[in-house]
Amino acid sequence: MRIIVNGAGGQMGRVLCAMIDENPATELAARVSVEFTPDPENRVFASIADCDADADCIIDFSHHTAVPTLCAYAAEKKLPLVIATTGLTAEEQAAADKAAETVPVFRSANMSLGVALVAALAKTAAKALPGANIEIVEAHHNRKLDVPSGTALLLADAIKSVRPESTYNIGRHENGKRTDAEIGIHSLRLGGEVGMHEIHFATGTQVITLKHQAQTRALFAEGALSAAAFLVKQAPGCYCMDDLFA
Ligand SMILES: NC(=O)c1ccc[n+]([C@@H]2O[C@H](COP(=O)([O-])OP(=O)(O)OC[C@H]3O[C@@H](n4cnc5c(N)ncnc54)[C@H](O)[C@@H]3O)[C@@H](O)[C@H]2O)c1
Repeated sequence: MRIIVNGAGGQMGRVLCAMIDENPATELAARVSVEFTPDPENRVFASIADCDADADCIIDFSHHTAVPTLCAYAAEKKLPLVIATTGLTAEEQAAADKAAETVPVFRSANMSLGVALVAALAKTAAKALPGANIEIVEAHHNRKLDVPSGTALLLADAIKSVRPESTYNIGRHENGKRTDAEIGIHSLRLGGEVGMHEIHFATGTQVITLKHQAQTRALFAEGALSAAAFLVKQAPGCYCMDDLFA
């Protein structure tokens, strides 16, 4: 599988390119990143618009503002597109949906297969324990800007999909009893923490805890490659982590 990596100069892009290089089943078709000095002979580009490499798909770990141009490129070149970049505006999401009319497009705020599994287990637990109090705790490094993490919200949304009455209490800080419907979401910011998510289900007689601990950013690159391998066999449309387990 020949892959164009958009955002190849960033933290995730570098990890992904190294993984593609090491894997005999994958080949780096091109590296694209705004800070690169173009070197077309070595398939290095500063802009996706200049990229003329033969490829089977694109994986994007760049910046949300890059997404509309990238989607137009993918649709024009008929290339399946994995969007791992987060923080898309409604307009940028609409650009991804539009591209999905022409090519398969995969999106997830968390490419970790383990987090997708935890989300599936959380749905099972929320259904099996309808009266349980549910609290989510997440921890990330001290440079993280968004609170709570997109993954904590993704997990809460998974629970809400089977318990529609759920409300979110983000960063509980007022006196008073919790309601039965609420999902508490709590954020810790600790040194170099890569990413930890815990979901507690308390029935009154027992507490069940699901926990995911990211140990290296490589897991997101690994998940993006699994998504790409899946995506190149699909028809045009929108895909997400649930589709990998279907
Ligand atoms: N879905 C996931 O599992 C997951 C995991 C980690 C990071 N992310 C997301 O991936 C994105 C990148 O993360 P990062 O930590 O590597 O960030 P980063 O800032 O280290 O890297 C981003 C790279 O994209 C490049 N870039 C910016 N605009 C571009 C454009 N228009 N065209 C091409 N390249 C462009 C930047 O120059 C930079 O090299 C972020 O949105 C982050 O939230 C998602």
